[in-house]
Amino acid sequence: MTASTNPFLDATTQGELYRDASRLATRTSALHRAKTHGRAVAEVIADLAGGHTRAPLAVDIGCGRGTSSRVLAKRLRPRRLIGVDASTALLADARARLGAVAGAVSFVQVDFHHLPLPDGVCSVAVAAFCLYHAPHPEIVIAEIARTLTPGGIAVLVTKSADSYHELDALVAAAGLDPDAPHRESLYAAANSANLAGLTERVLPVEHLEHEEHGFTFTDLGHAAEYLATSPKYHLPAGLRGDPDAIAAALRACLPDIPVSTTSVVTYLLARKPGGA
Ligand SMILES: C[S@@+](CC[C@H](N)C(=O)[O-])C[C@H]1O[C@@H](n2cnc3c(N)ncnc32)[C@H](O)[C@@H]1O
Repeated sequence: MTASTNPFLDATTQGELYRDASRLATRTSALHRAKTHGRAVAEVIADLAGGHTRAPLAVDIGCGRGTSSRVLAKRLRPRRLIGVDASTALLADARARLGAVAGAVSFVQVDFHHLPLPDGVCSVAVAAFCLYHAPHPEIVIAEIARTLTPGGIAVLVTKSADSYHELDALVAAAGLDPDAPHRESLYAAANSANLAGLTERVLPVEHLEHEEHGFTFTDLGHAAEYLATSPKYHLPAGLRGDPDAIAAALRACLPDIPVSTTSVVTYLLARKPGGA
């Protein structure tokens, strides 16, 4: 990976984001408590892959803390499930979280641009909320296609480029980061609008759906919990990563009322030609 002005594509920033599990866990918790609508993503992935129970091999690419891996292990019961991710800290968290359902599950540190699997061995490959970390996501999707069995499926999940844009407007309105609404999306590399085009180059797309997810943070303190985890914002010194300081700065300029935002989650199912 090369240096990029987009923090989700910059190798150094990525290393910091996933150096330990706390940022992802805090962010997920803040969003989960704010959620007003939108299905549970891991359950939708398992629904889409539902025809592939007891598969010889399923792979969860960019598995992070193992949220999808856990649901796939329980619902699809593959004979072998491998979760792969670049972050050793998140893999350790995934191992701990899957302890009870571990069975045939293993977690391996890899760069998803080079999957350490032979051609044609994987019946189900999932890549959720990770392709936007690849400067060239088409390379990762080509790797996925290479490892699929004939008839094997890939379930790819990403977000709209304008996800959470209401929060960009919030930090701009408070004067904390006036340029935020004009900065490139964190999801620029692989988002709801370009995922099908990226995939069609190497795999036929069978199904594409978009679902709006809604979130209402109870107050500015709750919104600040999320904001503190986002690398998008160029906040004044002393605020970065500090939810209490961000909340105080927001309250100094804005009414402390609920804050709503949205994100479109896109699910794509592609199948490798051939097979029964
Ligand atoms: C937002 S998390 C998503 C985790 C999980 N799929 C989920 O849905 O909760 C993105 C994950 O992509 C991983 N990732 C980023 N770049 C990667 C790379 N080059 N190779 C493997 N994993 C990578 C990160 O370490 C992180 O765990």
